[in-house]
Amino acid sequence: MTIRAPADAASIARAAEILREGGLVAFPTETVYGLGADATSAWAVARIYDAKGRPSFNPLIAHVADLDAARREAVLPEAAIRLAEAFWPGPLTIVAPAAPGGSVCELARAGLPSVALRIPDHSVARALIAALGRPIAAPSANRSGHVSPVTAAHVAEDLSGRVDMILDGGRTVAGLESTIVSFCDAEPALLRPGAARREKIEKILGRKLSAPARADITAPGMTASHYAPKARLRLEAHEVLAGESALDFGGRLSALAPAGTLVRDLSPKGDLVEAAANLFAYLRELDALGAEKIAVAHMPERGLGEAINDRLRRAAAPRVG
Ligand code: TXA
Ligand code: MG
Repeated sequence: MTIRAPADAASIARAAEILREGGLVAFPTETVYGLGADATSAWAVARIYDAKGRPSFNPLIAHVADLDAARREAVLPEAAIRLAEAFWPGPLTIVAPAAPGGSVCELARAGLPSVALRIPDHSVARALIAALGRPIAAPSANRSGHVSPVTAAHVAEDLSGRVDMILDGGRTVAGLESTIVSFCDAEPALLRPGAARREKIEKILGRKLSAPARADITAPGMTASHYAPKARLRLEAHEVLAGESALDFGGRLSALAPAGTLVRDLSPKGDLVEAAANLFAYLRELDALGAEKIAVAHMPERGLGEAINDRLRRAAAPRVG
């Protein structure tokens, strides 16, 4: 059931409550409507990917309250801070290395060592972030492959029944997504043109923006900078071989594994949203515990299974360098 309500103080308070409980709330920003979840909860963020129907885990923008909050999440070079001071709140997204101890979960970052941040210039969005007291992860509130929504009615067309609440704040002003600038490489790079003008950005930086160093905007899952487990993965396993650990789903492998096998079950009850929420954490745990080879159970290709399988195939692929 999707609650649709005018974005007044009472519904913003209700929306923050829903986010705190791990729910999804679509809300207006000055650019387009966002599909929001608590950015610190992998479980909540997994529901975003499920609702959007994305075939892979694209990294999401974390919407923060102020510059201090941004600095807790990312290591911002001086040039990034100058841009932030000039544009925030506003339609500029800054990508920078994630800060140690930052709160945005790894699933929201799609396993990248960087994080995308912005302060939206919209009273409803800002009130919601303040009420939650945590960053809100939000891609545009459309189904994957559809155009970004600029009214609550557009959001409802795509996501009715898939989000817990839609806050109606009327038509968005910019109608175009934020401009994304990355500070992850030697030179600041324009990852996506958008509502903040390139000329103004370049003027403030005192230099031209470069094209992205890697072709990682359309398919961020393909970059070498993604977290990849040290262990070798064997997919579609039907049993656990000697010397293997296991990444299970729905208890299939656990039942057959030799006693003493190191096992993590992504979702004992076979829930793909739960599996997505656990994926990065369990790969890291198995690495930390010294697993060298991991037998991975078959994951169904429906729903979030497609994105999970995409990530697993990348993790299992031979590494270059
Ligand atoms: O205006 C906007 O930016 C809207 C509102 C809701 O804020 N949001 C939006 O999100 O357009 P989305 O998910 O549709 O687009 C976010 C883009 C994606 O292309 C993603 O690949 C990129 O940001 N991105 C996020 N984190 C990144 C990272 N760490 N490195 C590179 N690209 C990143
Ligand atoms: Mg989008």
